[in-house]
Amino acid sequence: MSRVLIHSSREIEEMRASCELAADTLVMIGEHLRPGITTAEINTLVHDYTLAHKARPATLGYRGYPASVCTSVNEVVCHGIPGEQVLKDGDIINVDVTSILPDVPNGWHGDTSATYYVGEPSPEARHVVEVARRCLEIGVSMVKPEVRLGDIGAAIQEYAESRGCSVVREYTGHGIGRVFHAEPSVRHYGKVGTGVRLKKGMTFTIEPMINLGRKEIFHLDDDWTVLTRDRSLSAQFEHTVVVTRSGVDVLTKRRAPLTNSEDKPWADLGPVTCFTPEP
Ligand code: MF3
Ligand code: CO
Ligand code: CO
Repeated sequence: MSRVLIHSSREIEEMRASCELAADTLVMIGEHLRPGITTAEINTLVHDYTLAHKARPATLGYRGYPASVCTSVNEVVCHGIPGEQVLKDGDIINVDVTSILPDVPNGWHGDTSATYYVGEPSPEARHVVEVARRCLEIGVSMVKPEVRLGDIGAAIQEYAESRGCSVVREYTGHGIGRVFHAEPSVRHYGKVGTGVRLKKGMTFTIEPMINLGRKEIFHLDDDWTVLTRDRSLSAQFEHTVVVTRSGVDVLTKRRAPLTNSEDKPWADLGPVTCFTPEP
């Protein structure tokens, strides 16, 4: 537990720049999404935008990952590789952007993702996407010193399951900073009163992967693409956050709402300590 790094406010201000760039990239992508675009075109947009801002896409070459962004469509849970797939009306797509700024060894990482609607979503698609959006909102709103990660995981799980969805177990949020994936592991399920106790200056992501059907997953032969085992739809949202003296600062918060997603200011959940599911 003592392996979780604490960052100074000066370091946070450096990291904020990479987080803002990642957030801006999601806004830019929202403006380009439409039926007919390919995921390879999304990759090019992210790649070029990142380099134009003197940053580097963290995923390119990361453990052999071959692209500058992850594009996960419909039943793809995460780590979808951009390619010739043409998006069609009714699809949902998660775009997961991680920027390194400045582009030097040990530059700062900013990691954020959102799920977008391509054209008009089905009621099922809207359901899983809006549940996932809310799961992130709940998790982020609970972040403050002395809260335990198990409290956050439990609240996310309780909400998702109360809405008939399931939480993927194999992938978690993560500490982030000069490294992409660090301690702690941030589970989106769990037990109240367990896990790492948050301290001011900890930086990590929350990124619940929510399935419309069962929680089980499998991998494609490309060793990256993760799908729901039952082929049900899956949605995800991700922010990079820092624990502050009194609560949380969402480093990847957007300056403008996303188009092609039902992005909106978060409802004031107040101090969520024990979440009560909606009826
Ligand atoms: N951005 C992803 C995350 O949220 C990680 C993608 S790693 C890749 O942690 F290699 F798949 F790109
Ligand atoms: Co992440
Ligand atoms: Co990510």
